[in-house]
Amino acid sequence: MTDQNRVYIFDTTLRDGEQSPGATMSHAEKLEIAQMLDEMKVDIIEAGFPIASEGDFAAVSDIAKQAQYSVICGLARAQIPDIDRCWEAIRHAKQPRIHTFIGTSPLHRAIPNLDQDQMAERIEQTVTHARNLCDNVQWSPMDATRTEHDYLCRVVEIAIRCGATTINIPDTVGYTAPRESADLIRMLRERVPGADEVIFATHCHNDLGMATANSLAAVEAGARQIECTINGLGERAGNTALEEVVMALRVRNDIMPYNTNIDTTKIMGLSRRVSQVSGFPVQFNKAIVGKNAFLHESGIHQDGVLKNVETFEIMKPADIGLNAANIAMGKHSGRAALRSKLNELGYEVGDNQLKDIFVRFKALADRKKEVYDDDIVALVQDAAANTGDDYLQVKHLRVVCGSDGQSADLTMIVDGKEKTVHATGDGPVDACFNAVKDIFPHQAVLQLYQVHAVTEGTDAQATVSVRMEEEGRIVTGQSADTDTILASVKAYVGALNRLIVRRAQTGKDSDAKQISMYSH
Ligand code: KIV
Ligand code: ZN
Repeated sequence: MTDQNRVYIFDTTLRDGEQSPGATMSHAEKLEIAQMLDEMKVDIIEAGFPIASEGDFAAVSDIAKQAQYSVICGLARAQIPDIDRCWEAIRHAKQPRIHTFIGTSPLHRAIPNLDQDQMAERIEQTVTHARNLCDNVQWSPMDATRTEHDYLCRVVEIAIRCGATTINIPDTVGYTAPRESADLIRMLRERVPGADEVIFATHCHNDLGMATANSLAAVEAGARQIECTINGLGERAGNTALEEVVMALRVRNDIMPYNTNIDTTKIMGLSRRVSQVSGFPVQFNKAIVGKNAFLHESGIHQDGVLKNVETFEIMKPADIGLNAANIAMGKHSGRAALRSKLNELGYEVGDNQLKDIFVRFKALADRKKEVYDDDIVALVQDAAANTGDDYLQVKHLRVVCGSDGQSADLTMIVDGKEKTVHATGDGPVDACFNAVKDIFPHQAVLQLYQVHAVTEGTDAQATVSVRMEEEGRIVTGQSADTDTILASVKAYVGALNRLIVRRAQTGKDSDAKQISMYSH
């Protein structure tokens, strides 16, 4: 294996992923995810879009200061103030990178109303400016896959001449297909003077479900950086999933002899944490990290796997940090056993955290005979999402339901003060949510209410996800409990707690709305 076959992994979970509606993360969550990515040995972390808000700036800046291994990259439109702000945020990183971009396709050129020459001039000015600030500059022609080839070659050449060190070719709308993705990279490498002095990157969206295939095809044609997100998080159908490209290169190294430096055993832990903090559940049959990805239900498959695991398994669960032996714990399991189980599942917890999780574990084990790995994951995630010091806390809930009507008696702590109400509704969940609204009146609209059973059996825990929107601010909440109604109320209240934080971050007149991606 030569260095020429090294593929750099550029993770944009905290920028393109976080940009997807509802996936907003708190400052502390962004720092935690960045640290996990750094420990996983992601080569480049795109930490955010510093000009977008004070919050984005602070997150990028703190991530830049904390990173040990990864290059820390910030995004900037093709405007001098954006680039300056980006540099300000990343300059303390051991290895900073400025990523500047502009939409080059006819459709995207029309929005800032720039003709080809005017846009070329803008690229020249902004890339030069970025390079004067930072040695490591990435430039992207947004919507490259729908840009005329001659014009694409012209602007890529300008960016290289002005000092860009990485040229990223985004398939912004997930429009390309594998052969075309490869041809585009090959064409640029053949035609653009100076192409062999830079790294070409591929940045694919998954609108047609081809993001992974398109990224791998680009690598075969000479791209050496893949831009991706954990769980494929991202706008619309998402971005290329990190776990898919990394594991594809590892499992099929015989036909794709390219290397990444990713510690794949960290994949599962990151997948769970990103799902938790973004509020986006991972689809059960999602490649690599889905709950069913290593399950063998059908008799013929189970029989084969028992005789020789390789009959139906092309990779080992342990390779992605998944514990193969899902050994149940019970109410007699002690604190040491819980700690070791948590470590196996990829969670490093401090003593205080362990104390809190242990109390929750004991309460669960009292209600549920066997506590499986998935139960423990749900429990840890619930503990992280619903801490004891939130503004709104659920203290007591009593629900009456059945053919004679539904009502809820709810006691909550609001900013340290106890409040109790009685409410009715169309069903027990509606009655509970009405009770929450009586205690904490708000205008947020519920966009999503989803319930999943964590394990089998009628005593299984339910994980509940809710998403709500208020004046452009989208927030999510999640909770798990063997009592589905209680989990629903906790998830709803969790989302409201996030909304309170978002209101404070963004003010009344909602600069919560997304910053325009266009340079004017
Ligand atoms: O999809 C895209 O074009 C982007 C750019 C900002 C690189 O995310
Ligand atoms: Zn993108």
